[in-house]
Amino acid sequence: MSASASSFSPTVEHVVTDGEAYVRELTAELAKANRGPDGLSSREQFDRRPLNLGLFLPSMNGGGAGNYPTRLMTGKHATFEYNVEVAKAAEAAGLDFVFPAARWAGDGGTTRFNDYSLEAITLTAGLAALTERIMVLTTWHILYGFHPVHVAKMGATLDHMSGGRWGMNLVAGRKQKEIQQFGRALDSSQDRYGMMREFITMVQDLWASDEPIDLEGEYFTGRQCLTLPKPVQRPNPLLVNAGQSAAGVEFTTKFCDAAFIHGGRDNDLDELADVIQTFRTKAKENGREIKLVLPVAFLCRSTEAESNDLRRRILDAVDTEAATNILQGYQGSRSDTVPTRGQLETIVLGIGGYKLYGSHDQALEELVKLHRLGIDAFHFVCWNPLNDIDVIGEHFMPEFERLGLRTVR
Ligand SMILES: Cc1cc2nc3c(=O)[nH]c(=O)nc-3n(C[C@H](O)[C@H](O)[C@H](O)COP(=O)(O)O)c2cc1C
Repeated sequence: MSASASSFSPTVEHVVTDGEAYVRELTAELAKANRGPDGLSSREQFDRRPLNLGLFLPSMNGGGAGNYPTRLMTGKHATFEYNVEVAKAAEAAGLDFVFPAARWAGDGGTTRFNDYSLEAITLTAGLAALTERIMVLTTWHILYGFHPVHVAKMGATLDHMSGGRWGMNLVAGRKQKEIQQFGRALDSSQDRYGMMREFITMVQDLWASDEPIDLEGEYFTGRQCLTLPKPVQRPNPLLVNAGQSAAGVEFTTKFCDAAFIHGGRDNDLDELADVIQTFRTKAKENGREIKLVLPVAFLCRSTEAESNDLRRRILDAVDTEAATNILQGYQGSRSDTVPTRGQLETIVLGIGGYKLYGSHDQALEELVKLHRLGIDAFHFVCWNPLNDIDVIGEHFMPEFERLGLRTVR
């Protein structure tokens, strides 16, 4: 049987006579994206929905989903089974995406905060195969030793495993404690985002080219590189970045489809509005539109009193050493200055997330306000994921739908 006939039956032997036609057929046969009832892929739905909702996976051993450096812990450990349970619950509740952090070193302290974490690429490969509709994003440390050919092929494979529901959260990496494990050093003069630019351009070239290409860059090279299969999603799966520096913002607005931004200090809406403005202006200068995704520390409860009580219990059990290490990591260097209670509070209650306090109704009102300020998506950093997903699905989702924020346009 010639390769141009449809020959993909496991029980039928066939002889390939035309390699080009065979590869074309393979590509066409395999590149079928999962589509919703409206015929749109997950990515198209993400692009067209006014408000997307995501979840940060509990892949690390720290308090809550690994974002609360406190000695108080929720019931479950950061096992693979727990992450599958949470991803499936998020999918059943109608959320749009899940993703884990990528960590190679934690922040120590009494709790050995996040010293234990599941590796993000392999974790999301498992989740891609075990879920059906939700987008699965892999957080990927691009500069810890990968080559564009690795990422092009592994990314394409992940996109196939998920049926076109995969995306990538590219992180440059910046922690000395992590980088040194790969025999590398963090040099402040290093043009991290210059390297990222070159890297992702090469990955996209590999995804676009049907012929072998040479990679000739300042940081990466390769001879006769060919990636097959291509990702299911063309021209590429969703690309996200969380850079906040000027170089990070420039990179994200030029090369990515969405930006993870910080929650601002102490829920400062003016500061958040400035961040939104910065990203929007830069994107416009680069002739693009991107989605802005805000991390939200999920601390609301049925009543305001319960939320206040949770906040107090988390704070009372603060892992001061871990919180201090995180803070000093943010500030870029170790310092002997003891952090203030206010600084510790910002870190222990969901690190860089916008803090969502109060009753469920108050929280909902706050989320709508943030959306009106310019936020296109929230990713929830839960204290107790399985409990909080129920609240999102049963309490928040109907109201977002009523407001038309979930309608794919
Ligand atoms: C929501 C969010 C998630 C992030 N996740 C990770 C992560 O999993 N691993 C990591 O090394 N860095 C992570 N970062 C850090 C960013 O990639 C970035 O390095 C940081 O915001 C500083 O910006 P800059 O790189 O432009 O200096 C995250 C940041 C944000 C806001």
